[in-house]
Amino acid sequence: MSLTVSVIGAGGKMGTRVTNNLTKHKEYNLLFCEKSDNGIQSIQERGFEVTDTAEAVKQSDVVILAVPDVLLGRISRDVVPMMKNGAVLLTLDPAAAYANELELKNEITYVVAHPCHPSVFVEKFTREEHEDAFGGIAAKQDIVAALFHGEEEKYSIGEQVAIDMYAPVETCHRITVEQMAILEPTAAEVVACTTAVILKETLDEVVKMGIPEPAARSFLLGHIQIGLAVAFRGTNPFSDACQIAIDYGKEKIFRSDWKDVFEKEELDNVLKKMLQTQQA
Ligand SMILES: NC(=O)c1ccc[n+]([C@@H]2O[C@H](COP(=O)([O-])OP(=O)(O)OC[C@H]3O[C@@H](n4cnc5c(N)ncnc54)[C@H](O)[C@@H]3O)[C@@H](O)[C@H]2O)c1
Repeated sequence: MSLTVSVIGAGGKMGTRVTNNLTKHKEYNLLFCEKSDNGIQSIQERGFEVTDTAEAVKQSDVVILAVPDVLLGRISRDVVPMMKNGAVLLTLDPAAAYANELELKNEITYVVAHPCHPSVFVEKFTREEHEDAFGGIAAKQDIVAALFHGEEEKYSIGEQVAIDMYAPVETCHRITVEQMAILEPTAAEVVACTTAVILKETLDEVVKMGIPEPAARSFLLGHIQIGLAVAFRGTNPFSDACQIAIDYGKEKIFRSDWKDVFEKEELDNVLKKMLQTQQA
């Protein structure tokens, strides 16, 4: 089956990644839409033409909004009314759908799909896989996808395009938009990325104390890997002494009420800040 697919924001970070993958599939008639001079130049340098958004959208079976989340509400208000009935709108992040920022039309099916990124434990066989931390190039990753609004049959089309644009994909986990919003921003960004930044600050701190950087980096990155392996894979238990250090660290570093970040009100607040709709 041949599908016309428009990528709005095709010259941006995700637009470039997803179009690089979708151009590998002959069954997609891919249309590149972009607004900024840099984005247009980058599309042309890759050997593709830019199509006017209105022209592209009205003929598309699938429209991918690869634009910044803060613009998704406004751009969906321009794009959705131009989409043909039965088409699929695919967004790459749950924030705008969860916050009801997307323009809704009953005849359109809305699918949200987000990459999990390759797991720290994924088997990697080549240098290319090793270097592909983000996914979408060589390392296998899972993705999550949700039907936000519309028809089940059309969801499958959106899901297949998502699998192809984030390839190589091992598994697509079907979840809800609410669950995806709990995973990102809360689990992935509020907790995991914050923890990653604290780990980097830990390295900076011990280097400031005079420990040679290569020794500290090697020691810390190795201990991050074994810590994750013990916590997530149960390879072996933490030692009794290490468990005492963990209990001390949790008390000292984290607020005792840190799991409040999973409350709906907290999620709504952080998303409002991220989508800059606080004053709206
Ligand atoms: N960057 C990431 O790591 C990442 C990962 C997963 C999902 N996402 C999601 O992907 C989406 C895009 O994020 P990004 O980081 O690629 O953004 P980006 O800022 O890199 O790219 C956005 C592109 O959209 C273009 N654009 C803006 N308004 C436009 C318009 N009216 N018409 C056409 N083009 C327009 C911009 O010129 C830019 O090239 C967001 O929903 C984001 O949450 C991003």
